[in-house]
Amino acid sequence: MKIAVTGTTGHLGRLTIEALLQGDTEVSDVIALARDTERASQSLRADMEIRYADYDSSETLDAALTGVDTLVLISSNAVGQRSRQHRNVIDAAQRAAVSRIVYTSVLGAREARFSPVAGEHVVTEDLLHASGIPTTILRNGWYTENFVDSARQAMETGELLGNTHGGKIASASRADYAQAAAVVAATDGHEGQTYELSGDWAWTYADLAVILTELSGRDVHSRDVSEEFHLDALVALAGMDEALAGFVVAVDQAIAAGELAKQTGELSVLIGHPTTDVTQTLAEALSR
Ligand SMILES: NC(=O)c1ccc[n+]([C@@H]2O[C@H](COP(=O)([O-])OP(=O)(O)OC[C@H]3O[C@@H](n4cnc5c(N)ncnc54)[C@H](OP(=O)(O)O)[C@@H]3O)[C@@H](O)[C@H]2O)c1
Repeated sequence: MKIAVTGTTGHLGRLTIEALLQGDTEVSDVIALARDTERASQSLRADMEIRYADYDSSETLDAALTGVDTLVLISSNAVGQRSRQHRNVIDAAQRAAVSRIVYTSVLGAREARFSPVAGEHVVTEDLLHASGIPTTILRNGWYTENFVDSARQAMETGELLGNTHGGKIASASRADYAQAAAVVAATDGHEGQTYELSGDWAWTYADLAVILTELSGRDVHSRDVSEEFHLDALVALAGMDEALAGFVVAVDQAIAAGELAKQTGELSVLIGHPTTDVTQTLAEALSR
């Protein structure tokens, strides 16, 4: 059975390949897809098949998906372009008679009201269901690693700024989500399932400040501010461009609304162990 994984120059794609190989999957049964095959080859095993696949080019996708049984479609990072890109992949998978698609969506995609990313995932989930290809949806919660940059900054300034208003985040490490993708891709019985995946512990920015105090040895406090204040601070003080600052503020709004807090326990069940401790993930990421 050939399992192809997209986005293998990215974090989650590479970790998914690693997790497949750490399980029972042979390297000869894995195909890494990338739009920069040279870069992919630098971080993958030398004996792994790597195929060129650009979500923006149906021709490359047709060639890349030939003979593939299970496709792990790691969602694209081109926010705003993703519905179209994912449609290209799903159409090519239909033409190539791919037997199964595993897609990485976002936690609570259909109930989300504030999340700036949920819309494109819902469109993709609908496209997958309409395609008739047996599908497994992995609605991934937030990565703990998303907070590394703000953690670094907070450890420098002593202040963790946000507009989460005490909202919680049930984050898990990328490696946890990757392991779940590998388990689902390599084992039977997941067709038609939608898994809501999240960490075993939901934490607030105040909790994060305590962790950062522990890790840095200096006092870090969380400071909850209005959306407008946070946006201005990100642009004026941190030098972030307006679009990215707007995205960060919108994510905090989603957190404030509880959209990333859901602790379902489904991730630890799939991977067979508790999700990785938030402090451990941050400590490792901050040390790199
Ligand atoms: N749950 C969360 O907290 C969270 C946070 C951030 C993102 N995400 C989503 O999860 C996905 C995986 O996360 P990640 O950390 O692995 O992201 P990442 O490191 O940014 O990887 C994204 C991958 O998408 C590939 N890609 C982008 N455009 C492409 C195209 N036109 N054709 C083929 N490949 C293309 C990139 O290729 P290049 O290396 O060539 O650019 C890269 O391999 C993201 O793409 C995003 O949809 C989730």
